[in-house]
Amino acid sequence: MKTRITELFGIKHPIIQGGMHYVGFAELAAAVSNAGGLGLITGLTQRSPELLAKEIARCREMTDKPFGVNLTFLPSVNPPDYPGYVKAIIDGGVKIVETAGNNPVKWLPPLKEAGIKVIHKCTAVRHALKAESIGCDAVSVDGFECGGHPGEDDVGNWVLLPRAAETLKIPFVASGGVGTGSQLVAALALGADGVNLGTRFIATVEAPVHQNVKDAIVAASELDTRLVMRPLRNTERVLNNAGVERLLAKEKALGADIKFEDIIPEVAGVYPAIMIEGKMDAGAWSCGMVAGLIHDIPTCQELIDRMMSEAESLIRQRLEGMLAA
Ligand SMILES: Cc1cc2nc3c(=O)[nH]c(=O)nc-3n(C[C@H](O)[C@H](O)[C@H](O)COP(=O)(O)O)c2cc1C
Repeated sequence: MKTRITELFGIKHPIIQGGMHYVGFAELAAAVSNAGGLGLITGLTQRSPELLAKEIARCREMTDKPFGVNLTFLPSVNPPDYPGYVKAIIDGGVKIVETAGNNPVKWLPPLKEAGIKVIHKCTAVRHALKAESIGCDAVSVDGFECGGHPGEDDVGNWVLLPRAAETLKIPFVASGGVGTGSQLVAALALGADGVNLGTRFIATVEAPVHQNVKDAIVAASELDTRLVMRPLRNTERVLNNAGVERLLAKEKALGADIKFEDIIPEVAGVYPAIMIEGKMDAGAWSCGMVAGLIHDIPTCQELIDRMMSEAESLIRQRLEGMLAA
Protein backbone atom coordinates (compact mmCIF):
# COMPACT_ATOMS: atom_id res chain seq x y z
CA MET A 1 0.00 0.00 0.00
CA LYS A 2 1.32 3.46 -0.86
CA THR A 3 0.38 6.48 1.27
CA ARG A 4 2.10 9.74 2.19
CA ILE A 5 3.36 8.00 5.35
CA THR A 6 4.89 4.97 3.56
CA GLU A 7 6.58 7.42 1.18
CA LEU A 8 7.82 9.72 3.97
CA PHE A 9 9.38 6.93 6.01
CA GLY A 10 10.33 4.51 3.21
CA ILE A 11 8.23 1.65 4.65
CA LYS A 12 6.08 -1.00 2.98
CA HIS A 13 2.94 -0.79 5.12
CA PRO A 14 1.39 2.31 6.77
CA ILE A 15 1.63 0.81 10.27
CA ILE A 16 3.73 2.34 13.06
CA GLN A 17 4.54 0.89 16.48
CA GLY A 18 4.33 3.81 18.92
CA GLY A 19 6.96 4.37 21.60
CA MET A 20 6.18 2.35 24.73
CA HIS A 21 8.00 2.57 28.03
CA TYR A 22 9.69 -0.76 28.92
CA VAL A 23 8.21 -2.36 25.77
CA GLY A 24 9.89 -0.49 22.92
CA PHE A 25 13.24 -2.27 23.01
CA ALA A 26 15.28 -3.19 19.93
CA GLU A 27 13.63 -6.64 19.66
CA LEU A 28 10.15 -5.20 19.07
CA ALA A 29 11.25 -2.26 16.91
CA ALA A 30 13.27 -4.58 14.65
CA ALA A 31 10.43 -7.13 14.40
CA VAL A 32 7.93 -4.44 13.35
CA SER A 33 10.34 -2.94 10.83
CA ASN A 34 11.26 -6.36 9.43
CA ALA A 35 7.54 -7.00 8.94
CA GLY A 36 7.29 -3.86 6.78
CA GLY A 37 5.97 -1.43 9.40
CA LEU A 38 7.89 1.23 11.32
CA GLY A 39 9.31 0.08 14.65
CA LEU A 40 10.32 2.59 17.31
CA ILE A 41 12.78 2.24 20.19
CA THR A 42 11.55 4.11 23.28
CA GLY A 43 14.37 6.55 24.07
CA LEU A 44 13.77 7.23 27.75
CA THR A 45 13.45 3.54 28.68
CA GLN A 46 17.22 3.55 28.15
CA ARG A 47 18.47 5.23 31.30
CA SER A 48 21.28 7.19 29.62
CA PRO A 49 22.19 8.43 26.14
CA GLU A 50 25.04 5.87 26.12
CA LEU A 51 22.56 3.04 26.67
CA LEU A 52 20.30 4.43 23.94
CA ALA A 53 23.28 4.47 21.55
CA LYS A 54 23.83 0.76 22.34
CA GLU A 55 20.13 -0.03 21.84
CA ILE A 56 20.19 1.69 18.43
CA ALA A 57 23.27 -0.32 17.46
CA ARG A 58 21.56 -3.54 18.65
CA CYS A 59 18.46 -2.73 16.57
CA ARG A 60 20.60 -2.10 13.52
CA GLU A 61 22.07 -5.60 13.90
CA MET A 62 18.54 -7.03 13.85
CA THR A 63 17.13 -5.13 10.86
CA ASP A 64 18.29 -3.38 7.72
CA LYS A 65 14.89 -1.63 7.41
CA PRO A 66 14.09 1.90 8.62
CA PHE A 67 13.33 2.21 12.33
CA GLY A 68 12.98 5.21 14.62
CA VAL A 69 13.27 6.42 18.20
CA ASN A 70 10.54 7.86 20.43
CA LEU A 71 11.50 10.87 22.53
CA THR A 72 8.93 11.79 25.15
CA PHE A 73 9.21 15.27 26.64
CA LEU A 74 7.83 15.24 30.14
CA PRO A 75 7.46 18.15 32.51
CA SER A 76 9.91 17.35 35.29
CA VAL A 77 12.00 18.97 38.00
CA ASN A 78 15.07 16.96 36.98
CA PRO A 79 14.68 16.56 33.22
CA PRO A 80 16.51 13.70 31.49
CA ASP A 81 19.64 14.54 29.46
CA TYR A 82 17.65 15.46 26.32
CA PRO A 83 20.66 16.97 24.47
CA GLY A 84 22.50 13.70 25.10
CA TYR A 85 19.58 11.59 23.81
CA VAL A 86 19.24 13.78 20.70
CA LYS A 87 22.98 13.38 20.05
CA ALA A 88 22.76 9.59 20.46
CA ILE A 89 19.94 9.51 17.89
CA ILE A 90 21.84 11.67 15.40
CA ASP A 91 25.18 9.89 15.90
CA GLY A 92 23.38 6.53 15.64
CA GLY A 93 22.23 7.44 12.13
CA VAL A 94 18.53 7.15 13.00
CA LYS A 95 16.42 9.00 10.42
CA ILE A 96 12.98 8.98 12.08
CA VAL A 97 11.96 10.38 15.48
CA GLU A 98 8.56 10.25 17.15
CA THR A 99 8.24 13.10 19.65
CA ALA A 100 5.53 13.17 22.28
CA GLY A 101 4.53 15.14 25.34
CA ASN A 102 5.58 18.78 25.32
CA ASN A 103 6.09 20.92 22.22
CA PRO A 104 9.28 19.61 20.51
CA VAL A 105 10.20 22.99 18.94
CA LYS A 106 13.47 23.30 20.86
CA TRP A 107 14.76 20.00 19.45
CA LEU A 108 13.68 20.38 15.83
CA PRO A 109 16.69 22.37 14.52
CA PRO A 110 19.35 19.70 15.35
CA LEU A 111 17.04 16.88 14.23
CA LYS A 112 16.15 18.55 10.93
CA GLU A 113 19.79 19.50 10.29
CA ALA A 114 20.65 15.82 10.58
CA GLY A 115 18.00 14.99 7.95
CA ILE A 116 15.70 13.33 10.49
CA LYS A 117 11.96 13.12 9.81
CA VAL A 118 9.89 14.05 12.85
CA ILE A 119 6.40 12.74 13.61
CA HIS A 120 4.87 14.41 16.65
CA LYS A 121 2.21 12.58 18.65
CA CYS A 122 -0.60 14.70 20.06
CA THR A 123 -4.16 14.40 21.28
CA ALA A 124 -5.76 17.62 19.98
CA VAL A 125 -6.17 19.27 16.59
CA ARG A 126 -4.74 22.54 17.97
CA HIS A 127 -1.56 20.74 19.04
CA ALA A 128 -1.33 19.00 15.65
CA LEU A 129 -1.61 22.38 13.92
CA LYS A 130 1.13 23.74 16.17
CA ALA A 131 3.35 20.77 15.24
CA GLU A 132 2.69 21.50 11.56
CA SER A 133 3.53 25.18 12.01
CA ILE A 134 6.88 24.51 13.69
CA GLY A 135 7.99 22.16 10.90
CA CYS A 136 7.14 18.61 11.97
CA ASP A 137 6.89 16.30 8.96
CA ALA A 138 3.82 14.40 10.19
CA VAL A 139 1.65 13.93 13.26
CA SER A 140 0.20 10.99 15.08
CA VAL A 141 -3.29 11.87 16.30
CA ASP A 142 -4.09 10.00 19.52
CA GLY A 143 -7.82 9.64 20.22
CA PHE A 144 -9.54 9.20 23.58
CA GLU A 145 -9.48 5.39 23.19
CA CYS A 146 -5.69 5.26 23.32
CA GLY A 147 -3.52 3.51 25.84
CA GLY A 148 -1.35 6.00 27.73
CA HIS A 149 -2.04 9.72 27.84
CA PRO A 150 -5.18 10.76 25.91
CA GLY A 151 -4.99 14.39 27.09
CA GLU A 152 -7.92 16.15 28.76
CA ASP A 153 -10.27 16.83 25.82
CA ASP A 154 -11.82 13.35 25.53
CA VAL A 155 -12.46 13.44 21.78
CA GLY A 156 -12.68 10.00 20.18
CA ASN A 157 -11.10 9.18 16.85
CA TRP A 158 -14.45 9.08 15.05
CA VAL A 159 -14.50 12.89 15.29
CA LEU A 160 -10.84 13.69 15.95
CA LEU A 161 -9.55 12.15 12.70
CA PRO A 162 -11.87 13.95 10.26
CA ARG A 163 -11.21 17.15 12.24
CA ALA A 164 -7.49 16.58 11.71
CA ALA A 165 -8.13 15.85 8.01
CA GLU A 166 -10.02 19.10 7.44
CA THR A 167 -7.35 21.12 9.26
CA LEU A 168 -3.88 19.70 8.53
CA LYS A 169 -1.73 19.82 5.43
CA ILE A 170 0.98 17.44 6.62
CA PRO A 171 0.21 13.70 6.71
CA PHE A 172 -1.13 12.18 9.91
CA VAL A 173 -1.69 8.71 11.28
CA ALA A 174 -4.60 7.54 13.40
CA SER A 175 -3.50 6.44 16.84
CA GLY A 176 -5.47 4.91 19.68
CA GLY A 177 -7.72 1.88 19.63
CA VAL A 178 -6.30 0.38 16.44
CA GLY A 179 -5.66 -3.33 16.10
CA THR A 180 -7.37 -4.55 12.94
CA GLY A 181 -7.31 -4.14 9.17
CA SER A 182 -10.87 -2.82 9.20
CA GLN A 183 -9.75 0.03 11.47
CA LEU A 184 -6.85 0.76 9.11
CA VAL A 185 -9.36 1.11 6.24
CA ALA A 186 -11.61 3.31 8.39
CA ALA A 187 -8.66 5.51 9.35
CA LEU A 188 -7.68 5.91 5.70
CA ALA A 189 -11.29 6.75 4.83
CA LEU A 190 -11.30 9.43 7.55
CA GLY A 191 -8.26 11.09 6.01
CA ALA A 192 -5.32 9.49 7.80
CA ASP A 193 -2.31 8.13 5.89
CA GLY A 194 -1.70 5.24 8.25
CA VAL A 195 -2.10 3.99 11.80
CA ASN A 196 -0.06 3.96 15.01
CA LEU A 197 -0.48 1.00 17.36
CA GLY A 198 0.61 0.64 20.96
CA THR A 199 -1.31 -1.95 23.00
CA ARG A 200 -1.81 -4.34 20.04
CA PHE A 201 1.97 -4.68 19.58
CA ILE A 202 2.50 -5.64 23.25
CA ALA A 203 0.52 -8.84 22.66
CA THR A 204 2.97 -10.17 20.06
CA VAL A 205 5.56 -12.93 20.22
CA GLU A 206 8.49 -10.54 19.89
CA ALA A 207 7.41 -7.92 22.46
CA PRO A 208 10.10 -8.37 25.13
CA VAL A 209 7.73 -8.26 28.12
CA HIS A 210 6.59 -10.84 30.69
CA GLN A 211 4.06 -13.40 29.42
CA ASN A 212 1.64 -12.27 32.17
CA VAL A 213 1.34 -8.87 30.42
CA LYS A 214 0.42 -10.42 27.08
CA ASP A 215 -2.05 -12.81 28.75
CA ALA A 216 -3.65 -9.91 30.67
CA ILE A 217 -4.23 -8.00 27.44
CA VAL A 218 -5.77 -11.04 25.72
CA ALA A 219 -8.01 -11.63 28.76
CA ALA A 220 -9.14 -7.99 29.01
CA SER A 221 -12.26 -6.56 27.39
CA GLU A 222 -12.84 -3.02 26.15
CA LEU A 223 -14.39 -2.29 29.56
CA ASP A 224 -11.27 -3.08 31.58
CA THR A 225 -9.27 0.14 31.26
CA ARG A 226 -9.49 3.04 33.70
CA LEU A 227 -8.51 6.70 33.55
CA VAL A 228 -6.13 7.67 36.36
CA MET A 229 -4.47 10.97 37.38
CA ARG A 230 -7.33 13.01 35.93
CA PRO A 231 -7.36 15.33 38.99
CA LEU A 232 -3.68 16.05 38.29
CA ARG A 233 -4.46 16.88 34.64
CA ASN A 234 -2.10 14.10 33.62
CA THR A 235 -4.75 11.57 32.60
CA GLU A 236 -3.53 8.10 31.73
CA ARG A 237 -5.55 5.17 30.39
CA VAL A 238 -4.37 2.02 32.17
CA LEU A 239 -5.45 -1.59 32.63
CA ASN A 240 -7.43 -2.05 35.82
CA ASN A 241 -5.79 -4.01 38.64
CA ALA A 242 -5.59 -3.93 42.45
CA GLY A 243 -2.98 -1.12 42.37
CA VAL A 244 -5.21 0.97 40.08
CA GLU A 245 -8.23 0.41 42.36
CA ARG A 246 -6.10 1.70 45.29
CA LEU A 247 -5.07 4.73 43.23
CA LEU A 248 -8.67 5.53 42.27
CA ALA A 249 -9.78 5.18 45.89
CA LYS A 250 -7.14 7.76 46.89
CA GLU A 251 -8.31 10.11 44.11
CA LYS A 252 -11.87 9.82 45.38
CA ALA A 253 -10.91 10.33 49.04
CA LEU A 254 -8.51 13.26 48.52
CA GLY A 255 -10.48 15.02 45.76
CA ALA A 256 -8.98 18.28 44.54
CA ASP A 257 -6.32 18.18 47.28
CA ILE A 258 -4.54 15.21 45.75
CA LYS A 259 -0.85 15.62 44.95
CA PHE A 260 1.52 13.48 42.92
CA GLU A 261 3.28 12.46 46.16
CA ASP A 262 0.06 10.78 47.35
CA ILE A 263 0.07 8.26 44.51
CA ILE A 264 3.78 7.51 44.17
CA PRO A 265 3.38 3.89 45.40
CA GLU A 266 0.91 3.17 42.57
CA VAL A 267 2.79 4.91 39.75
CA ALA A 268 6.53 4.97 40.48
CA GLY A 269 8.69 2.04 39.42
CA VAL A 270 5.63 0.20 38.12
CA TYR A 271 6.87 -0.45 34.57
CA PRO A 272 9.81 -2.73 35.43
CA ALA A 273 7.64 -4.58 37.99
CA ILE A 274 4.92 -5.21 35.39
CA MET A 275 6.86 -5.60 32.17
CA ILE A 276 9.91 -7.49 33.46
CA GLU A 277 8.65 -9.28 36.57
CA GLY A 278 5.02 -9.75 35.51
CA LYS A 279 3.62 -8.50 38.84
CA MET A 280 0.24 -7.59 37.42
CA ASP A 281 -1.13 -5.79 40.47
CA ALA A 282 1.90 -3.50 40.90
CA GLY A 283 0.11 -0.34 39.78
CA ALA A 284 -0.83 1.79 36.80
CA TRP A 285 0.50 0.84 33.36
CA SER A 286 -0.80 2.17 30.05
CA CYS A 287 -3.21 -0.01 28.08
CA GLY A 288 -5.84 0.92 25.51
CA MET A 289 -9.48 -0.03 25.00
CA VAL A 290 -8.33 -2.00 21.95
CA ALA A 291 -7.58 -4.80 24.44
CA GLY A 292 -11.20 -5.81 23.74
CA LEU A 293 -10.20 -6.58 20.14
CA ILE A 294 -7.05 -8.52 21.01
CA HIS A 295 -7.61 -12.26 21.19
CA ASP A 296 -4.24 -13.78 20.32
CA ILE A 297 -0.46 -13.35 20.45
CA PRO A 298 0.80 -13.45 16.84
CA THR A 299 4.27 -12.57 15.56
CA CYS A 300 4.59 -8.99 14.31
CA GLN A 301 4.81 -10.36 10.77
CA GLU A 302 1.57 -12.34 11.21
CA LEU A 303 -0.20 -9.36 12.75
CA ILE A 304 0.83 -6.89 10.06
CA ASP A 305 0.18 -9.36 7.22
CA ARG A 306 -3.26 -10.10 8.66
CA MET A 307 -4.11 -6.40 8.96
CA MET A 308 -2.95 -5.68 5.43
CA SER A 309 -4.81 -8.58 3.84
CA GLU A 310 -7.98 -7.73 5.79
CA ALA A 311 -7.65 -4.12 4.62
CA GLU A 312 -7.10 -5.16 1.04
CA SER A 313 -10.06 -7.53 0.86
CA LEU A 314 -12.31 -4.96 2.57
CA ILE A 315 -11.41 -2.34 -0.01
CA ARG A 316 -11.51 -4.65 -3.04
CA GLN A 317 -14.51 -6.75 -2.10
CA ARG A 318 -16.81 -5.24 0.50
CA LEU A 319 -16.44 -1.54 -0.40
CA GLU A 320 -15.91 -1.94 -4.13
CA GLY A 321 -18.79 -4.47 -4.14
CA MET A 322 -21.14 -1.95 -2.57
CA LEU A 323 -20.40 0.51 -5.37
CA ALA A 324 -20.92 -2.13 -8.03
CA ALA A 325 -24.30 -2.99 -6.52
C1 LIG B 1 2.52 0.27 27.85
C2 LIG B 1 2.52 1.55 27.06
C3 LIG B 1 3.55 2.47 27.25
C4 LIG B 1 3.57 3.66 26.53
N1 LIG B 1 4.64 4.51 26.69
C5 LIG B 1 4.73 5.61 25.90
C6 LIG B 1 5.87 6.46 25.98
O1 LIG B 1 6.80 6.23 26.76
N2 LIG B 1 5.91 7.54 25.16
C7 LIG B 1 4.91 7.81 24.26
O2 LIG B 1 5.01 8.78 23.53
N3 LIG B 1 3.80 7.04 24.18
C8 LIG B 1 3.70 5.94 24.97
N4 LIG B 1 2.61 5.12 24.85
C9 LIG B 1 1.54 5.45 23.85
C10 LIG B 1 1.73 4.68 22.54
O3 LIG B 1 2.89 5.07 21.86
C11 LIG B 1 0.54 4.89 21.59
O4 LIG B 1 0.41 6.26 21.29
C12 LIG B 1 -0.76 4.39 22.18
O5 LIG B 1 -0.54 3.16 22.83
C13 LIG B 1 -1.81 4.22 21.10
O6 LIG B 1 -2.98 3.70 21.63
P1 LIG B 1 -3.35 2.12 21.62
O7 LIG B 1 -2.62 1.54 22.80
O8 LIG B 1 -4.80 2.12 21.77
O9 LIG B 1 -2.86 1.55 20.33
C14 LIG B 1 2.54 3.94 25.60
C15 LIG B 1 1.49 3.03 25.44
C16 LIG B 1 1.47 1.84 26.14
C17 LIG B 1 0.33 0.90 25.92
